[in-house]
Amino acid sequence: MSYFQRDRERHPPALTPAYKTSILRAPRHALLSLPTTLSEETGPVFGHDMIGPLDNDLIRNFAKDGGEAIGQRIVVSGRVLDEARRPVRGALVEFWQANAGGRYRHRKESYLAALDPNFGGCGRCITDDEGGYAFRTVKPGAYPWPNGVNDWRPAHIHFSVFGHAFAQRLVTQMYFEGDPMIWQCPIVRTIPDASAIEQLVALLDRRATIPMDALAYRFDIVLRGRRATMFENRPEGNG
Ligand SMILES: [Fe+2]
Repeated sequence: MSYFQRDRERHPPALTPAYKTSILRAPRHALLSLPTTLSEETGPVFGHDMIGPLDNDLIRNFAKDGGEAIGQRIVVSGRVLDEARRPVRGALVEFWQANAGGRYRHRKESYLAALDPNFGGCGRCITDDEGGYAFRTVKPGAYPWPNGVNDWRPAHIHFSVFGHAFAQRLVTQMYFEGDPMIWQCPIVRTIPDASAIEQLVALLDRRATIPMDALAYRFDIVLRGRRATMFENRPEGNG
């Protein structure tokens, strides 16, 4: 098992004052590298048998009997790849998002957009032999958030990918091709490299659309190397 340092050329600095909460969260002292222990590297991660049949269907996995979430129906799919573009098999991919109106189902949510009684907003799946994952959902809405006076997040889906140990968890966000809200977002703008931002933008995937049913978006997640997806949380010393 290999652990990799964060690529500081590519990832945003911890302190980005235009993203207000980074001021409190950013370390104020020099970072320390802590050696990993055998238990972190070899301990159990998750059970592959815990995935339920609707876990990758956000349109139905929270819905009441016969109900479905309201919104633009989409399929999101892609592959998890390593730096040599080899598939990463058996990885737990989790995703969570606001509903079609931009509202999260969370007790601290403060946006006035309505909750959808049939939409929970999270799901998960395990990558197949080709590193592939896919899930069905509704396109999330943009939402305002308490940062500046009037800041809005672009439509986005949060992603987490687990590796072979709990210390290997990567978190990022996916955006949607053609959304003018992407480039004005204070969180997106913490990423200094425009090409890294573009790799977070899922492309409309006409071939994967389902006629009279769902649009489709394609989002590949590359763990390391020149084509690596920008991860928010790549922890010091872990890859
Ligand atoms: Fe969000």
